[in-house]
Amino acid sequence: MGHYFVNDDNLKSEIREFKINFLNQDFVFKTDNGVFSKGELDYGTYLLLTTVLNLDIKGKVLDLGCGYGAIGVVISKLKNTKVTMVDVNKRAVHLSKMNVSDNKCDCLVINSDGYLNVSDKFDYIITNPPIRVGKTKLYELMIDSKNYLNENGVIYLVIRKEQGAKSFIKDMSEYYNVNVLEKSKGFYIISLKCC
Ligand SMILES: C[S@@+](CC[C@H](N)C(=O)[O-])C[C@H]1O[C@@H](n2cnc3c(N)ncnc32)[C@H](O)[C@@H]1O
Repeated sequence: MGHYFVNDDNLKSEIREFKINFLNQDFVFKTDNGVFSKGELDYGTYLLLTTVLNLDIKGKVLDLGCGYGAIGVVISKLKNTKVTMVDVNKRAVHLSKMNVSDNKCDCLVINSDGYLNVSDKFDYIITNPPIRVGKTKLYELMIDSKNYLNENGVIYLVIRKEQGAKSFIKDMSEYYNVNVLEKSKGFYIISLKCC
């Protein structure tokens, strides 16, 4: 099987649906082969969402590497805010557009490699980042994110201990004020604020 961030037009489509509830609101998500965590919400994404839903989010949000769109859809709906969602994977973008429409929320979905097709700036970037692209690309993406944050903007992300959470925290401290907001089952929820 190819990586979830590679566009593979030959991969058979098998769209399926699952339901999930956040804060007494039901959501329905379509997923497919060739996208991250098809079939169910990833635990890291779940933990990131439950952590961020407890915070005061007011302003423009970017869901970086949106996959089938869980973060953007839930945040947009429950924080009543406009979310821009980007992914390099065209199938993920297609699913996100369907999920935005099915869940009736206010989101703009863009096919983009990193920030290539993004011109706006944001108050929040919320992401379950693509660890599998490798450390160099991941770090480029995270450092570049600084250029797309408004003043006092903040990045919220999830990373696993076994994926190098501790060295990630140390390395990102060169560019951001880093805080660990939550830890569960080896997943770290981290905030990065501009220094
Ligand atoms: C760990 S998955 C998270 C997906 C989704 N946000 C979720 O939580 O279920 C990371 C996502 O980043 C996307 N991605 C990888 N490289 C990217 C890039 N250069 N630019 C934009 N998105 C990228 C992948 O296609 C994938 O959908």
